[in-house]
Amino acid sequence: MNIREAGIDEGISEVIVTSRSAVGTFNAAPIGIITTTNGHFVKLYKGSRTLSNVTETDKLAANVTCDAVLFVKAAFEKLDKSHYSALSGFPVLKEAQSGIIFRAVLEEKSGVYSIFQLTPIAVKINWNELKAINRGLNAVIEATILATRYKMTRDEREQEELKKEMVHYADIVEKCGGRREKDAIEILNEKFFT
Ligand SMILES: Cc1cc2nc3c(=O)[nH]c(=O)nc-3n(C[C@H](O)[C@H](O)[C@H](O)COP(=O)(O)O)c2cc1C
Repeated sequence: MNIREAGIDEGISEVIVTSRSAVGTFNAAPIGIITTTNGHFVKLYKGSRTLSNVTETDKLAANVTCDAVLFVKAAFEKLDKSHYSALSGFPVLKEAQSGIIFRAVLEEKSGVYSIFQLTPIAVKINWNELKAINRGLNAVIEATILATRYKMTRDEREQEELKKEMVHYADIVEKCGGRREKDAIEILNEKFFT
């Protein structure tokens, strides 16, 4: 199955991964889908709900989107049910440009992370939105990654460094971002600077 048309190409594709627990609770989180000449993979760090869901159900969905607010909300809030629809009976995000369901097979496990090999089993392209590179969007993604690291560390010096870097990205959003990017950085600001 060729999923390039659905937006997943070589390198690391930053998407929102939706998953489901054994008892049927939905989850969404920003995750990188790693694509090499050997196939598609995901590296999930210990402690995330995504990892526990994928371990329970052997499946995940990659949702391709350029919506900065959706990335920040998926990282730090629980998306309510209205965001989800079903693809082959699995939860995907309604607002995404495409959704790809993968079967996930554990390939490597350490004390810190688990790597799964991914095989696509269903694809849905909702719309092809052309969007030029926007540095504001890239900066939101970088700032959100820093914010998820901030949440995981207790080292105060590291937290200060991360905050400094986040301010740098917030400045880029201010200069280059559109409304969605500015709204997204505002949510991060509220969570980390107030
Ligand atoms: C752009 C982006 C990419 C990320 N990629 C990964 C990843 O590949 N693996 C991972 O374990 N966490 C990744 N994270 C961090 C998770 O999104 C974060 O830990 C999240 O809180 C996990 O949520 P969950 O507990 O609902 O699964 C990424 C975060 C961002 C913003």
